[in-house]
Amino acid sequence: MESLIKKVEESLKNMSPKNAEELEAFRLHLLSRKGLISELFDKFREIPGEEKKKFGAPINQLKKAAEERFRLVKEELEASQEQNIDLGIDASLPLNNLKAGSRHPLKLVLEEMQDIFIRAGFVVEDGPEIEDDWHNFSALNFPPDHPARDMQDTFFINEEFALRTHTSSIQVRVMERGELPIRIIAPGRVYRNEAVSARANCFFHQVEGLYIDKGVSMADMKQMLLYFAQEFFGKDATIRLRPSYFPFTEPSAEMDVSCFLCSGKGCNVCKYTGWLEIMGCGMVDPAVLESCGLDPEVYSGYAFGIGVERIAMLKYDVKDLRTFFENDIRFLSQFRSKG
Ligand code: DAH
Repeated sequence: MESLIKKVEESLKNMSPKNAEELEAFRLHLLSRKGLISELFDKFREIPGEEKKKFGAPINQLKKAAEERFRLVKEELEASQEQNIDLGIDASLPLNNLKAGSRHPLKLVLEEMQDIFIRAGFVVEDGPEIEDDWHNFSALNFPPDHPARDMQDTFFINEEFALRTHTSSIQVRVMERGELPIRIIAPGRVYRNEAVSARANCFFHQVEGLYIDKGVSMADMKQMLLYFAQEFFGKDATIRLRPSYFPFTEPSAEMDVSCFLCSGKGCNVCKYTGWLEIMGCGMVDPAVLESCGLDPEVYSGYAFGIGVERIAMLKYDVKDLRTFFENDIRFLSQFRSKG
C-alpha cells in the first residue's frame, strides 16, 4: 500500500501535462479505471479495518489532487484553444513583417505651417475646389477679358465654373460672410492647366491667409510674415519684400526668406542670391473689399498665398515635384511626424 501511495505521489510530482496528449496520458496513468488511483482504492478495500484508518485520508487527498490537476489543465487548454479560434490565428506562426505607415510630407509641412498661424490667432477655413467665376476671378479684381486672367491657366468646366486656380477664392467667401474682424488661413488644393514637369504640376497646394480689421497696415503684415518665417525656418531667418503684381492686392509683393541652407551666403539652392522666394502677399485692394461688401473707408487688411510644395521641396531637398504625387513607398516612408 505504502509503495503504491509513493508511486502516485511521484507521478503527481513529475507529470505536468502541457497539451491534450500529455493530459490524456496523465488521465490514463492516474485517473482511468485501470489507473493507479483505482488500483489504490482496490487495495484499500482489501486491507484490514485498523489500517484503513491510517490510509483513508491520504488516498482520498491524492485522488482529489489528481482530479483537480486534471480539471485545471483541461480548462487552460480549452481557453487557449478558444482564443486561437476567436482570432483566427495560429499563435505559433512567425510574425508577419507589418510595415507602419507614415504621414505624407505635404501634410506634415502643411500642419507645421497651420500650427504657426493658429498660435497667432488665425482660424482655418475651407472652400470648394470647383469654383464659380465670381469667387475665383471677378470678385478678386480680375475683370472679364482682363489679361491678368492669363496669369493662371485655368481648367474650365463650363462658362461659369472652373477648378479653382488658387485658394484666394476662399478669401472672397469669408469676406462675403461679413463677420469681422477676419483672421483666417485657408489651405487647399488648386489646379492649373500646366504641362507636368519636375517644377510644375496640374494640381498643387496653397495656404491662403487673410487679415481684415480697422487700421491694419503693411507693417502688421510684415511683422506677421517675419514671425512665420522665424518659426518655420528658425530664429535667424530674415525676410525681404519685393514689389510685384496681383490684381487683388495693392501694393503687392513677393516675399523672400534668407536661405536657410547657406544662411544667406549663397548656394545652389538659392541660386547664389542668398534668398528663397516663398510667397505672394499684399494689402487687399479696396476694389476687392467693395466687391465683397466691406467698406474700404473703414476696413483694411493684408493677404498672402504660400505654395506648400515649394516649401516642402526646400525643407526636404526634394528635386522633382512629381515625387509628391507618385506615392512611391520608398519616398513616402522617409517622412515621419514628430507627434
Ligand atoms: N493667389 C496667388 C497665386 O496663386 C497667390 C497670392 C498672392 C495670394 C498674393 C494672396 C496674395 O493672397 O495676397 O498665385
